[in-house]
Amino acid sequence: MLGPVILAASRSDRMRRLVSAAPVTKPVVERFIAGETVDDVVPVVKHLADRGLEVSLDVVGEDITTPEQSTAARDAYLRLIDHLEGLGLGERAEMSVKLTLFGQALPGGHELALANVRPVVEAAARIGTTVTLDAEDHTTLDSMFAIHEELRKDFPQTGCVIQAYLFRTEADARRLAANGSRVRIVKGAYKETASVAYQDKAEIDKAYVRILKILMEGEGYPMIGSHDPRLIAITQELARRVGRKLDDYEFQMLYGIRGEEQTRLAAEGHRVRVYTAYGTDWYGYFMRRLAEKPANLRFFARSMITK
Ligand code: FDA
Repeated sequence: MLGPVILAASRSDRMRRLVSAAPVTKPVVERFIAGETVDDVVPVVKHLADRGLEVSLDVVGEDITTPEQSTAARDAYLRLIDHLEGLGLGERAEMSVKLTLFGQALPGGHELALANVRPVVEAAARIGTTVTLDAEDHTTLDSMFAIHEELRKDFPQTGCVIQAYLFRTEADARRLAANGSRVRIVKGAYKETASVAYQDKAEIDKAYVRILKILMEGEGYPMIGSHDPRLIAITQELARRVGRKLDDYEFQMLYGIRGEEQTRLAAEGHRVRVYTAYGTDWYGYFMRRLAEKPANLRFFARSMITK
């Protein structure tokens, strides 16, 4: 019940100002956001690497309003890549990108986002790694998939994300599995209506399993983005059934969620990548994490009351 309300608030400027300015927010935010600057996030990447974990780094932000903000976001990723080069982790440290941060929703946004993301993908390739395009709300996806296809002509390792809650996703999964893409499958974190998406948790989980099967049986590289123990077990079973080796797919989880499970899977020999978000514009990302688990909201509310 609370999830949709929080997701609606994630798009409210008034709530953004209120929540972002509250000093008590900070400790709660820090559970999910690995710092504000690239200097904050580099030690986190090293710490995760020491635990046998890989990372996908996300400079938080979305829904910008000017082209200047989009080029500033591009430059933030380019600075991040300069720092990653020094760590020498190669593909163990990749980037995740939200195309709305690169200007996708502005007038002429498709071309602007492509122009901004291309140099990031080029720079990532230069240091032996790659970029995955996050999936945002359903109105952005045709443009995201077209940009993904365009980038893959020169950089076939470029990945993208698909969301199990959307009706369209089984067809997208078939196309991407056949053309050998790196694909992250997630349940989906945005507020979508019943005209485009399953609303019921059990229906979403069933769709996830159908899509997972398509990806695991396909030609690409599946990236299983979930903390759900049942889906993790089903992935392992499917991998055995279709003969995928441990490095033919990977698990992905979010920074701050089920850390022990991340380490446990890595110790079993699985590739585990931790989606690690950092930066100052954390509001939208943070609110989606609250919406996923109402207990997070209670923790947040309690910290507001006890301060
Ligand atoms: P589910 O929500 O059922 O959670 C299973 C269990 O995990 C819970 O019982 C709880 O223990 C734990 N858990 C999950 N979320 C938690 C939270 N916020 N706080 C505390 N515990 C939590 N979405 C999207 O629309 N576009 C995208 O590009 C991405 N990218 C992405 C990358 C990666 C690596 C991950 C893991 C997830 C995403 N997502 C996403 C988010 C995704 O759509 C989904 O909202 C979350 O992963 C939560 O769903 P689960 O599959 O974890 O299952």
